Amino acid sequence: MTEGRLITIEGIDGSGKTTLAAALARTLHEQDGINTHLLREPGGVVLAEKIRDLVKDPSLHTGARAEALLYAAARAQLVEQAVLPLLAAGRWVLLDRYIDSSLAYQGAARGLGVKEVLAVNSFATGGLSPDRTLLLDIEPLEARKRLAKRGEETDRLEQEDNSFFEDVAGAYRQLAEREPDRFTVLDATSTREQLLDEARAALVALMPDSD
Ligand code: TYD
Repeated sequence: MTEGRLITIEGIDGSGKTTLAAALARTLHEQDGINTHLLREPGGVVLAEKIRDLVKDPSLHTGARAEALLYAAARAQLVEQAVLPLLAAGRWVLLDRYIDSSLAYQGAARGLGVKEVLAVNSFATGGLSPDRTLLLDIEPLEARKRLAKRGEETDRLEQEDNSFFEDVAGAYRQLAEREPDRFTVLDATSTREQLLDEARAALVALMPDSD
């Protein structure tokens, strides 16, 4: 049986996480014979999808602390109900956002404190840490242009101004600097092929016969 692995993908809204996650899952299957299980946050299991609807709803007044706790509650359920059983069964789990999102958005940009938000999330997840985190780095203005092109309705968080996303992007960079062994920073403006190659390369060391 292969060893379970947790890979997370992070970045600000419009950085292309979801597209990369899908392409990476396909490549790992076709090129390396690894069947990944793709999940997203907040969501992935029924309770967490319900919390997702709540936390993204622009019509609800949601304070920063409540917001942090809602994301943490969704994460706790996802980890218990889906991630841990998959890892125990030797599966690779590819997760579109995880704790680093809360550290960057709620801890840094909302000003709750990275250390404080980490404590809540360590409780929520029992301290489950990713084997590798891919950070899609992009200038917030560029990301905003991409979101505008998609033409979708913006959710409560996407309605924040540019300085909020500057804070989020800056916090992500700091998190990556603090844990260089876990993070791989990818330039989100690279071509799709290049991004995919670099993302896969960052995972080779985790593959079964790489050591
Ligand atoms: P996401 O699923 O990336 O949005 P979409 O599918 O609409 O592109 O994430 C939803 C929003 O939640 C996004 O603005 C980032 C935010 N978020 C946090 O602020 N903290 C968190 O812990 C997570 C997981 C997401």
